[in-house]
Parts: sequence; C-alpha cells; structure tokens
Amino acid sequence: MRRTGALAAEVLIAACEHVRAGITTDAIDRFVHDAAVAAGAYPSPLGYRGYPKSVCTSVNEVICHGIPDSRRLDAGDIINIDVTVYREGVHGDTSVTLMIGDVDEHSRRLVAETRVALHSGIGAVRAGAVVSDIGRAIQNHAFRHGLGVVREFIGHGVGTEFHSGLQVPHYYDRRHSTVLTEGMTFTIEPMLTLGSPEAAMWDDGWTAVTVDGRRTAQFEHTLACTSDGAEILTRTAAGECAHDLFTEPVG
Ligand code: MF3
Ligand code: CO
Ligand code: CO
Repeated sequence: MRRTGALAAEVLIAACEHVRAGITTDAIDRFVHDAAVAAGAYPSPLGYRGYPKSVCTSVNEVICHGIPDSRRLDAGDIINIDVTVYREGVHGDTSVTLMIGDVDEHSRRLVAETRVALHSGIGAVRAGAVVSDIGRAIQNHAFRHGLGVVREFIGHGVGTEFHSGLQVPHYYDRRHSTVLTEGMTFTIEPMLTLGSPEAAMWDDGWTAVTVDGRRTAQFEHTLACTSDGAEILTRTAAGECAHDLFTEPVG
C-alpha cells in the first residue's frame, strides 16, 4: 500500500505539472493512463463499473467522477484530478483540486478550506477512534467556513479492492460507529461546496454536479490508521504530494 500510494502521488504530481489553461481533460487522461502503464500499474478507473476513462476530471460545478473529454480548461476554472492506480495487488487513490490562472476569491477560499477540511478529518484518525469522528471533524470545519458538505459521495476502504465495504462519510452520523484499528486502510475525500451540497447526475450516469451550479472542491488521500494517528500513504518517497505543491494557481 505504501509503494502503490507513492506511485499514485507521483502520477498525480506529474499530471498536475502538465495542467495549464488550454489543455483538454482528454489530454490529462492520456497522460495519467500512460504514466500509470509506464510504471507497471493499471489505471483503476478504466472499465471500473463501466467507467470509460483512466482518471476523473471534475471542473467547477462537477462534484466528482467527471469524464475526460474535449473540453479545454480556461483561466478561472478549478479542476479536481482524481488518480487511482493498481499495482502489486492493491490500489492507491488520491486527488487534488487545482486552480487555473486567475481564480475568483470565493473559489480560492473553497479550495483552501477543502484542503484544510481533509486534514481535520485525518487528524481524527487513530486506533480506537470511530469512523464518525472523521466526518464530525470535517463537517465542523466546513460549517465554520460557511461551506456545504456533499453527502452522496463518501470515503471508502481501499486495498486489494478499489472500494471495500467500509464507508467514511464526510458529515457527522453517529451510526457510523465502526472502531478504527491499526493497519486499516481507507480514503478521506471531502467534497465541499460554496452553495447547496445537493448533487444531480448527468445522463452519462457518472458526472455528479451541484444542483445550483455553484462550485465544489475535493481533496483525497489514502491513509493507514496507526496506533496514535494516520499515515498518509499517497505521498512520494520524498514525502511530497500535489496538495502541498499546488496551493497557488497554475498556468
Ligand atoms: N477515485 C474515485 C474515488 O475516490 C472513484 C472513481 S470511480 C470511477 O473513490 F469509476 F469513476 F473512476
Ligand atoms: Co476514493
Ligand atoms: Co479517488
């Protein structure tokens, strides 16, 4: 899981280095596909429950699972790039939201606070805590900043399966009382919104958008629960991740 997580981080960073205004989301898909294959990995999204591409690219009001296509990124857009790779029998899953060029102040705040919200959730992880502690921490952070929390899509156990049975909501629900134990591996991937957190689905069956068309951001890490905290698995061997490298607008 450490090695595959590091690869996911490397592929995501490399993809981000290519992103600038004018690039199509298809070009990001091609890049991620080729980078995964070159590293001896399989891009987990490709063919997963019929998903047609190797990465998810979710622009502006798209909450998650945006399908790469011929759309070109414009200055002022925000885009989440969600990379999952499968190698050595396990998956590593990580995503970042990038800002393209001059981005409005509301979007900047949304992106920055969603990143912090992920870290609030990570801060709740330790052996003996319960799953609902994670969502409570994220929701508290979001609500303090006047941001919505998407409920329809949640974090998940990850390992030999892309999505194992474990569910990790980003909102507080005391019924999620599973106790975290050392060595459990799962994602935390909050999707926060400037407006309504309600989601609608495009007729492609994948693209989830905010019902009010306002913007949404997401950050994701794959984690391992430890005796006293969490180990972030989706970092490079040098400890880098796209979340820390791309806090300022690109291209
Ligand atoms: N990577 C996404 C997640 O964080 C799942 C994408 S499923 C796909 O869980 F089929 F859309 F790729
Ligand atoms: Co995930
Ligand atoms: Co993901």
